[in-house]
Amino acid sequence: MATDKTFYLETFGCQMNAHDSEKVIGTLRQQGYRQVESEEDAGLILYNTCSIRDKAEQKVFHRLNDYKRLHKEGKRFGVLGCVAQQEGEKIFERAPYVSLVSGSASYRKLPEMLMRLEAGENRITGLDDRQTDETFETEFTARQNPYRGYITIIEGCDKFCSFCIVPYTRGKERSRTSSSVLNEARRIAEFGYTEIQLLGQNVNSYRDPEGKCSFAQLLAAVGQVPGIRRVRFTTSHPRDFTRDIVDAIDQVPTLCDHVHLPVQSGSARVLQKMARQYTPGWYLEKIAWIKAAKRPISLSTDIIVGFPGETADDFIQTMDLLAEVQYDCVFAFKYSARPNTPALTMIDTVPDEEKNRRLQALLDRQREIQRVNYSRHIGQVIEVMVEGANSAKGQIAGRSSQNKPVNFNWPQPIAPAPGAYLQVKITNAYPNSLVGEAV
Ligand code: 5AD
Ligand code: SF4
Repeated sequence: MATDKTFYLETFGCQMNAHDSEKVIGTLRQQGYRQVESEEDAGLILYNTCSIRDKAEQKVFHRLNDYKRLHKEGKRFGVLGCVAQQEGEKIFERAPYVSLVSGSASYRKLPEMLMRLEAGENRITGLDDRQTDETFETEFTARQNPYRGYITIIEGCDKFCSFCIVPYTRGKERSRTSSSVLNEARRIAEFGYTEIQLLGQNVNSYRDPEGKCSFAQLLAAVGQVPGIRRVRFTTSHPRDFTRDIVDAIDQVPTLCDHVHLPVQSGSARVLQKMARQYTPGWYLEKIAWIKAAKRPISLSTDIIVGFPGETADDFIQTMDLLAEVQYDCVFAFKYSARPNTPALTMIDTVPDEEKNRRLQALLDRQREIQRVNYSRHIGQVIEVMVEGANSAKGQIAGRSSQNKPVNFNWPQPIAPAPGAYLQVKITNAYPNSLVGEAV
């Protein structure tokens, strides 16, 4: 009976995974399951995994190892997400107490897989590889984030950058219809959310199957849904970054002042080996569009250091690009060889100590850039959306439209609720956050 069907779900990885988990939780609840807070309390233990880099992949096997003893008490284990798709049935060899292995492209079959699990089957797989044309849409999404409603508009990836596992773990690129996206946006707004984040591995590669609108038009339309005050989107691929996205941000006030545009490297040679399909010059042209906007659009990026064959000179070109663009946030990673990817066959010429050195040099330089960028806000009054309390400092934590974290003092006994908008006067700045007083 439904009453003893309990599950525990832990999520690793990106926002796509976090939102997939919201949909998985909703689907499980619909099937009569109740979510619990610890592995010990659950009948079904699920891990939604990430395999973008080696370290992320190892986490699930550590977790399984930590809790495998619970299998003796009759608890069942399921591995979902990118490691599930990547490793497939090999997971049953490595962790024989796992009963369910499913990649994200098979989640629409979850109700059926759960029924087989309940019937006592032990090696259930949902491994759709790159075959599926379908997206995972459900009206039962159990939204976990108190202030931000996620909407996946495009799943999968067809770009095949030579370092990246995503095209193999999340299947081929497939977009939802714009009508279905807009319906979900309206539902979210009616539910009380004022911030929406549109998601996709390459969100701006969106192509409406109904042919009604471009990505920029969809973005603008979501921004015009009554009740919505902030719209974000992630992650954009430079190749598909069109000028009308900047025009939309200029024209629709609810679209946030922020673009995340992963560059990966500042060297044309490395970019070519990465199969990124652009040169630094071409990328910088998109940056110039963004900087020419009427609104102060903040920029962030992803960078990989130590890609196979990256020379000291290639790395200097990446450092030069940082100096030129002046990002407000950089996610930098050491190259990590991934199974099945083309880069795996390239000779990894950069020793690990050198990768560490380059990573540190890059982070140090970027910190100085951000120190200057963030300090420019001192004295300004900024609209902040409350995210929660910063308990270590007794402050309220929130975010600006530009996606900058803002911590501020709050004089009254009752803290503002997550999702509230306040004006904050900035009194101090660090390289990664602003500090202020509510006005
Ligand atoms: N090694 C290191 N970083 C990677 N990324 C993707 N694949 C790898 C890899 N094999 C980084 C890229 C991407 C971000 C999500 O993760 O910078 O934009
Ligand atoms: Fe990790 Fe990529 Fe999968 Fe997200 S899509 S969970 S980043 S491997």
